[in-house]
Amino acid sequence: MRDVNIDWANLGFSYIRTDLRYLSHWKDGEWDAGQLTEDNTLHIAEGSTALHYGQQCFEGLKAYRAADGSINLFRPDQNAARMRMSCERLLMPFPTEETFIEACRQVVKANEHFLPPYGTGGSLYLRPFVIGVGDNIGVRSAPEFIFSVFCVPVGPYFKGGLTPHNFVVSDFDRAAPNGTGAAKVGGNYAASLLPGAQAKAGDAQGRHFADAIYLDPATHTKIEEVGAANFFAITKDGLTFVTPKSPSILPSITKYSLLHLAEHRLGLKVEEGDVRIDELDRFSEAGACGTAAVITPIGGIQYGDHFHVFHSETEVGPVTRRLYEELTGIQYGTVEAPQGWLVKVN
Ligand SMILES: Cc1ncc(COP(=O)(O)O)c(C=O)c1O
Repeated sequence: MRDVNIDWANLGFSYIRTDLRYLSHWKDGEWDAGQLTEDNTLHIAEGSTALHYGQQCFEGLKAYRAADGSINLFRPDQNAARMRMSCERLLMPFPTEETFIEACRQVVKANEHFLPPYGTGGSLYLRPFVIGVGDNIGVRSAPEFIFSVFCVPVGPYFKGGLTPHNFVVSDFDRAAPNGTGAAKVGGNYAASLLPGAQAKAGDAQGRHFADAIYLDPATHTKIEEVGAANFFAITKDGLTFVTPKSPSILPSITKYSLLHLAEHRLGLKVEEGDVRIDELDRFSEAGACGTAAVITPIGGIQYGDHFHVFHSETEVGPVTRRLYEELTGIQYGTVEAPQGWLVKVN
């Protein structure tokens, strides 16, 4: 076990090599027993489909240390279900939900000393992935696969935690109308690198953005995603939580958790439907939500020449704050969790 010397309070979202990761291999129709390994590199065939044809998918979930010292995974069954769906979409075998969750638990336990202490706002981010490997050259599904889970201690994805960020609508699409947008596959993210870099570089007016917003790829009129996060907004009367619905959006576990909490804990009406980019005046608050982004308030959105400010560019809105407190309270064990949302590691 390595001694860790980490400045917990100032963790960002960067790679830190932890001690052990889970590795399992699929060949001849079955997964091997899987084991923890120290090696953080993979030695794979040059013809691996993951390298040439993007046959790979991944997940992102977190382990949180609660005030009483216990460690919880947040809704890992949902990540397992989504990974099964991603694997099916790319013709890859998925282990099982039990193996997925057990691998996550083993990795957290083996790297417990990397889990940020309660109160620092940090967590241990888990990255499960499945990749096609083995000798191959044609466009077909791989002869072998690897399932692995590694972990990294992380702080906020967007600097400053619950502080508003500005975003810019991109002309590019991250996914096609009947493509792979709803699956967590690398190709969607490769497609988002250029728009993301352009957003961060800023516009001619010198305004810089945290990331790109993607519109629906069929008509370019409705908001779909905010970088690697889903979008939500609160109507001007403060009564309704609205989030887009589309087959090319990644079904965010955070978003579905917020839909539940908005309705059952905050007493809001909830609506999954179209969010037209020319109707942002309907809303008093907006935010990006995801495992990494948690809830990041959206200060303003640049769309062409127009910059639309929601609640404020510097202050978080009241409903967004309540949602954040409810969600993170559940994750860190200070607010009662809905049945089945937390899975104990220790
Ligand atoms: C494109 C995209 N949308 C949304 C999300 C948020 O999903 P989740 O809340 O399950 O992390 C993510 C992150 O996983 C993402 O990469």
